[in-house]
Amino acid sequence: MELLFLTLDKEDEKPLYEQLYLNIRQAIIRQDIATGTKLPSKRQLGDFLNISQTTVELAYGQLLAEGYIISKPRVGYFVEAIDELPYVEKETIVSGPLSDEPSSYRFDFSPGKIDEAGFPFRLWRKYAKDIYDESSKQLLQPGHPQGEYALRIEIARYLYESRGIHCLPEQIVIGSGTEQLLPMILRLFNKTAKIAFENPGYSAIPHAHIQSRAIPIAVDEEGLIVDKLEKSDASLVYITPSHQFPTGAVLSATRRTQLLKWAAQEQSRYIIEDDYDSEFRYIGKPIPALQGLDKGDNVIYMSTFSKSVMPSLRVAYFVLPLTLLPKYREIFSYYSATVPRFDQHILANFMRDGHFSKHLNRMRKIYRKKHDKLISVLSKHYPAVNISGDSAGMHVLLSVPTTLTEKELQSSAQQAKLHIQPITRYILTPIAYEQPTFILGFGGIPIEDIEEAIHALMKAFHYTNSTL
Ligand SMILES: Cc1ncc(COP(=O)(O)O)c(C=O)c1O
Repeated sequence: MELLFLTLDKEDEKPLYEQLYLNIRQAIIRQDIATGTKLPSKRQLGDFLNISQTTVELAYGQLLAEGYIISKPRVGYFVEAIDELPYVEKETIVSGPLSDEPSSYRFDFSPGKIDEAGFPFRLWRKYAKDIYDESSKQLLQPGHPQGEYALRIEIARYLYESRGIHCLPEQIVIGSGTEQLLPMILRLFNKTAKIAFENPGYSAIPHAHIQSRAIPIAVDEEGLIVDKLEKSDASLVYITPSHQFPTGAVLSATRRTQLLKWAAQEQSRYIIEDDYDSEFRYIGKPIPALQGLDKGDNVIYMSTFSKSVMPSLRVAYFVLPLTLLPKYREIFSYYSATVPRFDQHILANFMRDGHFSKHLNRMRKIYRKKHDKLISVLSKHYPAVNISGDSAGMHVLLSVPTTLTEKELQSSAQQAKLHIQPITRYILTPIAYEQPTFILGFGGIPIEDIEEAIHALMKAFHYTNSTL
């Protein structure tokens, strides 16, 4: 009998019929039993394995249902051809690079981290408690695809008061993050439309799938070089004008006008303005949003609560020009909003009662202190390093004059349990940096640890005062 190799374990938790089914299925997939082979009858196999015919019948029934065998009435069961499903031995996944376990860093300089001590837990808890109540039972039902109207009203009000943006709640679309919303925006346009991205820039890595349409445009101390955009065949441009990510450059007034003019020249041209951390500006006045200056309808404004409230909230949004709304509704009205309704209402009520602006004011002070401390430690103890992009946000750029390579510095920091990203992580096409350059995020490091964190980093970089 062909199936002599079958082994069943009566002590096993799995029922016998399932063990038998799995055994035979594996033998078929591995082609240990050739296509066309006749399987033993239920009685033969039951006797042979000392199990009931019903057990065999159940196993054969499952194999039959899944198409591994066929039944020929009054003749028997035969193995089906399944050569379109080649057997692939699965590798056992070991922990290591694939592990989802959070790493425990001594200090984490990632730009996405926020201050934990300043989060208003008591207030947030109150709003969460209030909304999880029977009086809100309608929130158990599906919500509006563009997000809760109550939250859109608050966002529209905030944008008008703080960013000079005029928009209706109807123009706002809420989603679970910039990375989720950007591809949605891109779907509103022709599939072949070329998209210009800042290089280095935020979207370089996550949106690699549109790389064939992506046009990298260099950035200097005045932000995106609009002359280069004008010479390209891009019809869309993604830009972070208030605080270029990651260089920190502010798009100059001349370039702003030039960019808006570029967009106004052709109907198909649009600017996607990502205003991700504009709330945190330490030098000079807030930079007005491009959207507010736009005379045409060419700017799609987007922003996030990841910096201003918390990155784990997963709430970001975009504001569509009225001209794009019909297209948006045509494509997306059957999609569901990606942020839980209860979370949207917690945020909306927090904003409605004025806590968001108070929170921003407090956090601005905290980040300013952290920022000033970071700059003072670096300039006092390590005057030869270069710091740039230091007028806003929650990170600066740090360039280190050294004979070591970026890779060597990074692995040395890693060994010292310090997390820091090189700027090259955000490039679309290679840029030759004279010195290894890193993104030094300070949002998540408690102010009292900043000095120690910088010394630890510089030590890991083999960079002490004596190196100077
Ligand atoms: C340029 C830029 N945009 C947006 C975000 C926030 O993205 P999300 O809304 O997906 O958290 C970040 C976060 O660091 C960013 O650097």
